[in-house]
Amino acid sequence: MAEQKADFQAGGKNHTYEIKDGTIGPSVVDISSLYKDSGMFTYDPGFTSTASCESKITYIDGDEGTLLYRGYPIEQLADHGDFLESCYLLLYGELPNKMEKDDFVNRVTYHTMIHEQMSKFFSGFRRDAHPMAVMVGVVGALSAFYHDSTDIADPHQRMIASLRMIAKMPTIAAMAYKYHIGQPFVYPRNDLDYAANFLHMCFAVPCEDYKVNPVLARAMDRIFILHADHEQNASTSTVRLAGSSGANPFACIAAGIACLWGPAHGGANEAALNMLSEIGSVDRIPEYIARAKDKNDPFRLMGFGHRVYKNYDPRARIMQKTTHEVLGELGIKDDPLLDVAMELEKIALNDEYFVQKKLYPNIDFYSGITLRALGFPTNMFTVLFALARTVGWIAQWKEMVEDPSQRIGRPRQLYTGYPQRDYVPITQRR
Ligand code: CMC
Repeated sequence: MAEQKADFQAGGKNHTYEIKDGTIGPSVVDISSLYKDSGMFTYDPGFTSTASCESKITYIDGDEGTLLYRGYPIEQLADHGDFLESCYLLLYGELPNKMEKDDFVNRVTYHTMIHEQMSKFFSGFRRDAHPMAVMVGVVGALSAFYHDSTDIADPHQRMIASLRMIAKMPTIAAMAYKYHIGQPFVYPRNDLDYAANFLHMCFAVPCEDYKVNPVLARAMDRIFILHADHEQNASTSTVRLAGSSGANPFACIAAGIACLWGPAHGGANEAALNMLSEIGSVDRIPEYIARAKDKNDPFRLMGFGHRVYKNYDPRARIMQKTTHEVLGELGIKDDPLLDVAMELEKIALNDEYFVQKKLYPNIDFYSGITLRALGFPTNMFTVLFALARTVGWIAQWKEMVEDPSQRIGRPRQLYTGYPQRDYVPITQRR
């Protein structure tokens, strides 16, 4: 095939740029020499037309509603695999064989405890602190405890840091929860699998036996798989940008957690459940649909719409199934919020405004109902997202650090402030 080029005219001159093709998905115009050639930058706030990197990890086809981890459809991974297998896949590029899987699970399990002194960090926070605030602080603090895995130039240290974060995130998340509700921390149990151990650390108390329900543990594990990676979203791009300066991996993941917290990103699951509670009953839905459509009202249907998906979010479909499984297992026959969610979805999917703008439910629409049924308070929802997304952040960070062409990320700007002017002494200012 003839090499494709893109022509660009600027300042009365023609510039030609190479078009690069991926294995699937849109091609890109490589304009990295545009500034050198023409003295101009491209302008793309929100990165709607900009590929910030080359990656082999995750692929999304937003029109088709497809999500692939290393080429494998999310539906197949969620139905047949488990979270740690997806972690291995995201980190190393292939599904593990039996020996590789056992070894990986062992190594993650071996790192589940955190340095005992770290538990003192928690008591420095107010009890009513949002658990995401605690997560940003404590995960950032990992770099103060694990000095032997902060040298990013050493592949062994990178590997240990990756395992540590995947292994310790559930422990830290569960501790943030226990601290918030005033219960003692529960140590990890290495005889339990990843999701079961997390549920145990969250819901067990020292004064009685707690048996993890395997159906709920499987649902938790599937929720982790669904959230594990999502290519170059805001928090992942934050991790990459932070990492591009050579910052240590723990600090980079803390930056990702901070970005994820926002209601337009990971905070949407909490916001979606709050919205469903506020709507409260099916008869109030039309009022909220009208508000979502009103240009003068900032209200949006939380859990609806996505920058990339212009079709049903494939994760939302699996999440909806998981919601029914969890409610069924817990014997919850009527959940008024589920009724509101299902009716809201039906109405929105048939409403001209949502149809025309291709606004479909995203993963966060049903995740809140499921997580609440599992026993988590709303302010823990984004924490669970961060826990699961940690492997995606690490895989993307590792891919970037291991790319020999990697340079510090340094976006430019269209400056619209004052041109140069002279300093005015305070006595002469108006
Ligand atoms: N409710 C009502 N209108 C909406 C919604 C919504 N949820 N989402 C987008 N729109 C409208 C928006 O008003 C705009 O209309 P117009 O073109 O007339 O100005 C149009 O649709 C396009 O919206 P946008 O804000 O330009 O789209 P975006 O790609 O910048 O934003 C989004 C994507 C996810 C931030 C947005 O859809 C949103 O705020 N959704 C609610 C929050 C949410 O559920 N976020 C979770 C995303 S999935 C989890 C994750 O990846 O973090």
